Amino acid sequence: MEKRIAVILGDGIGPEVTHQSIKVLNAIAAKYRHNFTYTYGLMGAIAIDKTGDPLPQHTIDICRQSDAILFGAIGHPKYDNDPIAKVRPEQGLLRLRKELQLFANIRPVTTYPSLHHLSPLKEKQLQDVDFIMYRELTGGIYFGKKELSDDGTEASDLCIYNKNEIERIARLAFVSAQQRRKKLTLVDKANVLETSRLWRKTVQEISSDYPDVKLDYMFVDNAAMQIIVNPKQFDVVLTENMFGDILSDESSVISGSLGLLPSASLGVSSALFEPIHGSYPQAAGKDIANPVGSILSAAMMLDYFGLYNEAAEVREAVAWTLTNGFVSQDIDPENPHYTSTIGEFASDYISNDIPPNIN
Ligand code: IPM
Ligand code: MN
Repeated sequence: MEKRIAVILGDGIGPEVTHQSIKVLNAIAAKYRHNFTYTYGLMGAIAIDKTGDPLPQHTIDICRQSDAILFGAIGHPKYDNDPIAKVRPEQGLLRLRKELQLFANIRPVTTYPSLHHLSPLKEKQLQDVDFIMYRELTGGIYFGKKELSDDGTEASDLCIYNKNEIERIARLAFVSAQQRRKKLTLVDKANVLETSRLWRKTVQEISSDYPDVKLDYMFVDNAAMQIIVNPKQFDVVLTENMFGDILSDESSVISGSLGLLPSASLGVSSALFEPIHGSYPQAAGKDIANPVGSILSAAMMLDYFGLYNEAAEVREAVAWTLTNGFVSQDIDPENPHYTSTIGEFASDYISNDIPPNIN
């Protein structure tokens, strides 16, 4: 199979983790005789430094011309501490999501028994946790009108949704539930927000098209608690943009590290794959970050291409590195492995069909 992949390395640890995914994709391509080609584009703080624009037109063009986009991370501390900066790295990612209509952000949360000890949750709560979050990604308060009064003392962000935006992601979430344990939980704040009531009404209306899925509703404050006290109750979680942003970081503590979780952002005709973690500037360039979130994002990309065996093999390689202790410092501070070593071992596992010689 021939696939053109746009690669946006981005900021901080983005380049080093994404390079591991490319190693793994290359091992898959060699083994299964696929042809993956990579075209690189700039986005984020690095794009501002080089071009003045967090999302240069060239990057949008290569994304449009590709079959999928592999993305690293975005953000730089020099902007975080400057609340009045007009141009910010994150604008690049937000504009790309909007431009390509990447409306469905899919974040699976799984656990590895060998990592249970890393989670602050108790063993009992971690067993059999397996849920997937569908986060709306191109609407809501992120994209509503933003205003700051002339004297700079009052600000507002408008949260706005229309039925179509809700329906298109809800349908994807229902289909996912049909293929899983047939339970869908809509997370909202319908006791307070008008947008949440529109979400409930819309989701309720289309639920009759998916009679085999059990739909329930949960207020976001309660959901934040339930994710910690009883995460195994969830199968598919559907929610709006900002609630999903917050709940997905929270969910990562279940796995044991933010560095482990992948995501896919699906759109009308494009798809972007990225780890859920940020740019982790303190670790940038040190080869110590966890590449697993990125490698598992590449596995989600293979699934998206319909290459299910290949995706399963990448997940198996990752599970093998994790269970054999080839892990980064966030997982094992006593005996950490380099980012590049983990990527190499995962790709060796794929290429050799046997565990690499680790002596
Ligand atoms: C994420 C990130 C982004 C978001 C930032 C970098 C704009 O936190 O993908 O979760 O808030 O959506
Ligand atoms: Mn986030």
